Amino acid sequence: MAQPPTVSIKAYAKVNLGLQILGKRDDGYHDLVTVFQTVDLADKLTVSPGGCGLQMTVSGDFAVPADGDNLCLQAARAYLQAAGADLGVSISLHKRIPVGAGLGGGSSDAAATLRALHRIIGAEVDLHPLAASLGSDVAFFLLGGTALGEGRGERLTPCPTPAIGHIVLAKPQLSISTREAYSFLGPDDFSDGTHTRRLFERLRRGEAVPDCCHLVTNDFQRPVERRWPAVRSLREAMMSAGACASMLSGSGSCMFAIFAEAADASRCAEMLAAEGYWQHGGNMVHYGPDQE
Ligand code: C5P
Repeated sequence: MAQPPTVSIKAYAKVNLGLQILGKRDDGYHDLVTVFQTVDLADKLTVSPGGCGLQMTVSGDFAVPADGDNLCLQAARAYLQAAGADLGVSISLHKRIPVGAGLGGGSSDAAATLRALHRIIGAEVDLHPLAASLGSDVAFFLLGGTALGEGRGERLTPCPTPAIGHIVLAKPQLSISTREAYSFLGPDDFSDGTHTRRLFERLRRGEAVPDCCHLVTNDFQRPVERRWPAVRSLREAMMSAGACASMLSGSGSCMFAIFAEAADASRCAEMLAAEGYWQHGGNMVHYGPDQE
């Protein structure tokens, strides 16, 4: 029988155009309301059937361990087990998305692994519960584009990606663990999700993000800025460069800025690069199973 083909997939980063934390649950997670949005910064994942057991190599701009904790290997194990497939698999991951940034890189890599293996093996496996078991954001990356996330982030309602979305990402020289960031949220940091639901409704009606900037919010912003003043300096630099909104992505430490005009976004990205920030100037992307 012919060897199944190698599959290469882009694993896009996301930002949270809105992120409101409703409260802590009995299982230790937090209920939230968020608008996820993929952006045109991506890791590249190549999955090749063959060989013995699971192998993984990592290259690119950022280092992540290729050991059993790696979410790609966890995703591969979960898929092969659910599919009842006894197959050797090699995974090659090229990292371009910063780690500890709130851009969902590890979650996106895990979802890309599930999608690649599903394409190679094609077993009757429901990917959504597998994704949700790997992490709160992983299910979103099966869809990509724009989606409202509820529950702990795994309950998703997609909508068409807004037309205008010039976006600049920049990261101060610190990384924040998601678990740690959640652990220092207190009841004063929680909110009711109204802004983010309203933002989603307006995007769903076809409005552009720059026209809804006052609804771009993140409940991590205040506590993270209190702890790490470098985050506040970055937000102020983005706003002074003409952004109509700048906010943490997820629990940070990466910030994003929204611009109505591409030229203003490019100028902001150049200014931040000159100041020594890791940065990326680009656009929001829609993606689906056909666009990779
Ligand atoms: O789901 P994920 O593994 O990405 O979450 C990492 C950590 O972030 C969790 O262990 C939990 O402490 C925290 N978290 C949370 N509520 C969420 C998502 C994540 O408390 N909705």
